[in-house]
Amino acid sequence: MQEKINQYIAEIEAYSTKVADEIEQFRIKWAGRKGILNDLFEEFKQVPNDQKKVLGQEMNRLKTAVQAKLDDLIASTASAGSDNAEKEDMTRPTGAYAPGTRHPLSTVRREILEIFERIGFTVADGPEIEDDWHVFSGLNFPPEHPARDMQDTFFIEKNPDMVLRTHTSSVQVRMMETQKPPLRIVMPGRVFRNEAISSRAHCQFHQIEGLYIDEGVSFADMKQTLLYFAQEFFGKAKIRLRPSYFPFTEPSAEMDVYWGLNSEADYRITKGTGWLEILGCGMVDPNVLSASGIDPEKYSGFAFGMGIERITMLRYQIDDLRMYFENDVRFLRQFDRMV
Ligand code: DAH
Repeated sequence: MQEKINQYIAEIEAYSTKVADEIEQFRIKWAGRKGILNDLFEEFKQVPNDQKKVLGQEMNRLKTAVQAKLDDLIASTASAGSDNAEKEDMTRPTGAYAPGTRHPLSTVRREILEIFERIGFTVADGPEIEDDWHVFSGLNFPPEHPARDMQDTFFIEKNPDMVLRTHTSSVQVRMMETQKPPLRIVMPGRVFRNEAISSRAHCQFHQIEGLYIDEGVSFADMKQTLLYFAQEFFGKAKIRLRPSYFPFTEPSAEMDVYWGLNSEADYRITKGTGWLEILGCGMVDPNVLSASGIDPEKYSGFAFGMGIERITMLRYQIDDLRMYFENDVRFLRQFDRMV
């Protein structure tokens, strides 16, 4: 028996592995219920009493060797950082990770700006917190105009002359004040309206404003420019201008794009007409020009404004505004490839 124990201890000390399964096999082989140690203890019971003391110590030496080896094996795999260290290939490429994607509103804003940049417009922006002059008075809004109402406009409490701009038309005024014609500018930005009355409404959205001022600019120039935009963006060749009213343009119009009535969805989004309203526009009112120091006798121009949320809805057939700001990745991932 003494000899067997010596052999066992040599075998144990020579053993090595880093594989978790093999460590477990090792434990079962030696210390398991039907393992070698238990067998040996059975054998030990038969040993004559006078040999028990010496052999008992030898048995303990064996037991300690098994335990020490197990501790060693476990410690060495733990320090390798995993109980599967041998199977881990550190040079293996990682799985594909998903980079962020552009928000559909950003994609559409970029696209619209690019279309106008191609025909000579530059991009500008202005402050979101604005004074009354740039948002209203400079744009020919009379003092009692309903758009100034508390219902629509967020006022800055400490200074009632300051508001959160309700449209990007305010940037027009800044541009006319600081630059000399000819002006060809598109002005994207965030705007704010106090419209919490509807559960779908969100108090902020995005617009793109356009301004074109030069000598001899006519309504026909406006129409051609906007037709070009509609064709480039929607790929639709037909537009119509419906008479409308804005304080800062005269005459004013709303522009529709002919969308068609080819599917059930077309009926829904065009309310059965086939036409979609996409922007407001008009010839800059002479009052607006002179208020900003541009001579209306010499210059004329047109302006337009559109809502990015609405145009994005049409482009991707999104039917709920809330999708834009809930940041649901299942929604956002659909735009993966639309850079
Ligand atoms: N500011 C208008 C709005 O927020 C949009 C608009 C209409 C802008 C006509 C213009 C324009 O420049 O000429 O609804």
